[in-house]
Amino acid sequence: MYNFLAFNPVKLHFGKNVVNDLGSSAARIGKKALLVYGSGSVLRNGSYIDTLEQLKKHDIDITEFNGIKPNPRVEDVMEAAIVGREADVNMVVAVGGGSVIDSAKIIAICIADDCDAWKVMTGKHEPLAAIPLITVLTLAATGTEMNAVAVLQNGATMEKIGYKNDLIYPVHSFLDPSYTLSVPAEYTAYGVIDLVAHSLEAWFGKGEATLSDRFVVSIIKEAMEFGPALMKDTGNYELRANIMWAATNALNNLTMYGRESGDWGVHALGHVLSFLYDTPHGATLSIIYPAWMRLLKERAGDRIIQLGKELFDVETVDETIESFETYFKSLGGPLRCHEAGIDQSEKEEVLKLMNRNRAEGINYKLSDGDREALLDHMF
Ligand code: NZQ
Ligand code: ZN
Repeated sequence: MYNFLAFNPVKLHFGKNVVNDLGSSAARIGKKALLVYGSGSVLRNGSYIDTLEQLKKHDIDITEFNGIKPNPRVEDVMEAAIVGREADVNMVVAVGGGSVIDSAKIIAICIADDCDAWKVMTGKHEPLAAIPLITVLTLAATGTEMNAVAVLQNGATMEKIGYKNDLIYPVHSFLDPSYTLSVPAEYTAYGVIDLVAHSLEAWFGKGEATLSDRFVVSIIKEAMEFGPALMKDTGNYELRANIMWAATNALNNLTMYGRESGDWGVHALGHVLSFLYDTPHGATLSIIYPAWMRLLKERAGDRIIQLGKELFDVETVDETIESFETYFKSLGGPLRCHEAGIDQSEKEEVLKLMNRNRAEGINYKLSDGDREALLDHMF
């Protein structure tokens, strides 16, 4: 087991109507908020109006910034930070899914530190502060509501990358599963796939950590039991709640304690597809995880078999990979690129950017030849 620091400062409010406590929580932080959201789903599922009413009830001045895109862009973050600084806000309130919340995290840094967002993301600028962040989560997937990570893309450098800093843990996160009832079927599936993938990134990380391994297995079992059930009954509050809480725990440090790191290779490879084709994050993962396991049959064989026994009661690497494929398919996730609208003719383009961006894991390093072989399993 590696040494670790157990730390998570997020006050997470979970359940029906928890947003009723947002106004009083915000009032203890400040008087001026930048309210950030995406393209309008929050206007239709009640989360925006509930948040707005809470802020107004507690006399908090509101400046809005909307239009954050899925696979969020660094330019939007810079623009929002300027709006926030001009309005002299002292907190950011983000209402939406991972894209909105990740953007809000970097906006919170750039408002406090008046800095360049991409320099922050790439580690070229070490920020000293972020203004406090409150989140209202409307999509169960990323775990961003209870972690210190943000993922953004930059068209100029042709990258989609993650960034981690304790400054960007939300102060409060409000998770009312009711807001997720309106998530369309495909994004519901991508969310379940994402939470499974986060558990797998921990499982294939560096270091032996048996309790963290057991958390991984339990979280994936939740997703196996409730994911397919939810796909058949997307209006079911209890199922939405189970998946929402599983997604939070899949990436809030719980599965990482005692490891040196997760792997994150499949995520890095997936970000290349998202960058090139705007492929939703979860869709990249159901394509690449089985392909990656096939590539690493020898190198990660023992770990794959151990997982197969725990989850599917199977004995071999191949059976484990096929079981994951069957599971992802049962949710409606794509298994090959063409199922996500990426044609065979794109293969070279994908390989070029994967190699250029050196997409690989922290634990399992990949050569250019590995990435070429991987693509044969993806296309
Ligand atoms: O544009 P809006 O109106 O916000 O609509 C969104 C978007 O079109 C919509 N949506 C959100 N909540 C909804 C809803 N539609 C109906 N009803 C609701 N309640 O869903 C679409 C996708 O939203 P998005 O925020 O992009 O999805 P998700 O939460 O899956 O976030 C994905 C982003 O998070 C990053 C991904 O790379 C991707 O950019 N990740 C962040 C991580 C983190 N911070 O820890 C870790 C993850 O591995 C991941 O990389
Ligand atoms: Zn993910």
